[in-house]
Amino acid sequence: MIDYKKLIAAEIFDEALGLTEEQIAEMIEIPVDTTMGDYAFPCFRLAKTMRKAPQLIAQEIASRIEGCEIFDHVEQVNAYVNIFIRKEYFMEHLLKDVAKQGADYGRSDRGAGRTVIVEYSSPNIAKPFHIGHIRSTVIGNAIYKIFDAQGYHVIRINHLGDYGTQFGKMIVAYRKWGSEEELEKEPIKSLLRYYTKFHEEAEKDPSLNDEARKAFYNLEHGEAEETALWKRFRELSLSEFNRVYDMLDITFDSYAGESFYSDKMPAVLQELKDKNLLVESQGAQIVDLEPYGMAPALITKSDGTSLYVTRDIAAAIYRKEHYDFDKCIYVVASQQNLHFRQWKKVLELMGYEWQEDCIHVPFGLVSLEEGTMSTRKGRVVFLEDVLNKAVEKTAEIIREKNTDGIDVDEIAKEVGIGAVIFQELSNNRIKDYTFSWDKVLNFDGETGPYVQYTHVRACSVLRSASEEDLKAVAEQQIADYGYLTSESAYTLAKLIYRMPEVISEAADKYEPSILTRHLVDIAQEFNKFYHDEHILVENADERVAKLALVSAARTAIANALNLLNMKAPERM
Ligand code: ARG
Repeated sequence: MIDYKKLIAAEIFDEALGLTEEQIAEMIEIPVDTTMGDYAFPCFRLAKTMRKAPQLIAQEIASRIEGCEIFDHVEQVNAYVNIFIRKEYFMEHLLKDVAKQGADYGRSDRGAGRTVIVEYSSPNIAKPFHIGHIRSTVIGNAIYKIFDAQGYHVIRINHLGDYGTQFGKMIVAYRKWGSEEELEKEPIKSLLRYYTKFHEEAEKDPSLNDEARKAFYNLEHGEAEETALWKRFRELSLSEFNRVYDMLDITFDSYAGESFYSDKMPAVLQELKDKNLLVESQGAQIVDLEPYGMAPALITKSDGTSLYVTRDIAAAIYRKEHYDFDKCIYVVASQQNLHFRQWKKVLELMGYEWQEDCIHVPFGLVSLEEGTMSTRKGRVVFLEDVLNKAVEKTAEIIREKNTDGIDVDEIAKEVGIGAVIFQELSNNRIKDYTFSWDKVLNFDGETGPYVQYTHVRACSVLRSASEEDLKAVAEQQIADYGYLTSESAYTLAKLIYRMPEVISEAADKYEPSILTRHLVDIAQEFNKFYHDEHILVENADERVAKLALVSAARTAIANALNLLNMKAPERM
C-alpha cells in the first residue's frame, strides 16, 4: 500500500521548515469536506519558527510541490495546503494492491512476535447462557480476530464461571429436589429451576445456606460426592454452551475457568501473606484498599474458602508465567469495573509491573424490548433461542423472495446469525442497547443483512461478466483508470484504501464497532456507485475498469465480514 502521508511529507520537506519528514507526516490531516482536498497540511505551527504568516508559508509550499506527478493539483486556502491526489494514480495502485493481497487485504504484521490473550464469553456453568452473554462472546471474538489480523499470536480463553459458593447451593438444591432424569432431558433449565427453588426455600429456612456453604467447602476440599456432582453440572453446561459456540462458529484455545485455579490458591494466599498485604477482618482475609478509595478485596471467607477476585489473581499470575503475554485483555461487562480495579490494584501491590498489560475492556448492558431479565426469578431469554429465531425469521424473509439456486437453510443461517452478530458490534461497546428484531433483520438499515446483501450484489455483477473480462480484472489489465474518476467511484476507493488503517484503530481501541461502521460506509458507497453508474457498458476498457473496482469492493467487504466472524454469502 502506498502511504500517501509519507509521500506528501517527503515532497513538503525542506530544511527551512525545521521539521522532520515524520513530523510533517503526523501533521497531515484528512479533511472531512472533500472539496478541501484528499489531504491537507496546516501551517500554523510553522509561523513561529519561520517568522512568517502561516498563509504565506502555505502559499510557498503549495507552489513548490505543485508539480509532483502524483498530485492532481494543490491549493492554498488560508493556512492550509490542500492536496488533491491524481485519481488515476490512486486507483491504479489501490486496485493492484487489493487484487494482489486478496483475502489478506486488511491484514498486517504489526503484532508479529507478540502474544495477546483475549479472555471472553466466560459464562457461569449450570446457569442459562442467555442473551446477556452475547456481548462478551461476540465482542471478544471480534477483538480476537482483529488482533489476529494484525499478526499477533492470540490465545482465546474462556474463563468459565465454574466455581464458587453458588455450586454449594446448586448441589444442595439438586440433592433435595433434583432428578437425573430431568437433568438428562433439560440440563440447564432443570438446574435453573432447582437453583430458583433454593432461593425461595432459603428465605423461609436460612439453614439451607449453611448447608450450601458446607457443600462448597467439601467441593473445595475434594470430597468425592460433591466433586462428582459438580463435574456432571460442568459437563452438561459445556455441551449446551458448545451448541451456541458452534452456531456462532467460535472456538477457544482454553477453557481453564475458575476451578482450574483452585489448587493454585494456597500459593497466592501465601504470597499475599509474605508481602504483608493480608488483613483479617471478622474472620475473613482481605486486602485493604481504602488508601486507594476502594472497598477491600475479599480474599478468603471466614471458613477459608476462596473468592472470585482471589481466583482472578491466581489466573493472572498463572497466565503471565504460562503464556508470557504482552497483553491480557478481559472482555467483561462494565458492571465489573470495580472488581477489575480492585484486582489490578492488588496485583500492583504485589509488585507485578505487568499488571499494566492487563486490560479490562468493558461493555454496556443489553436489554430486551419486552423488559428486563432475572436469572433468579427464572425470567431469561436463552441465547440459543435468539439465534434459532433469527435463522427462522431470515428463512421466512428469504422465501418471500426469489430462491432460485440458493440453499435457503444454509443462507438463513449465515444471514440470521450474522445479523445478530452485526447488531452486537454496531454500537460503541460501552453503550447500553436494546435488542430489537426489527433492527436486526432489516435488509435496508445499517445492518448485517444489508452489508451481506451488498456483497451478494457485487458477486452478482461479477457473475454476469464474461470470462474474458474477469481474466482482465484478475490480471489488472486496465487500459484507462480515467474511467474510475467519478465522485462515487473515488469515494468508494478511498474507503477501501482506509480499511487497513481502520482495522488497526479498531485493535488499538478494542472497539470492533469502528470496523463495523466503516464496513457500512463501504457498503453504502458501493450501492451508490452501483446506482449512479452503468457498469456493464459496451466499451470494454470502461467495463473492465469498473469491474475491477467492483471486485476490490467485494474483497474489502468479504474480508471485513470475516473479521467480524460473519459469512460473506455469494447469493441470498
Ligand atoms: N463468569 C463471570 C460472569 O459471568 C465473568 C468472568 C469474567 N472474567 C474474569 N476473569 N473475571 O459474570
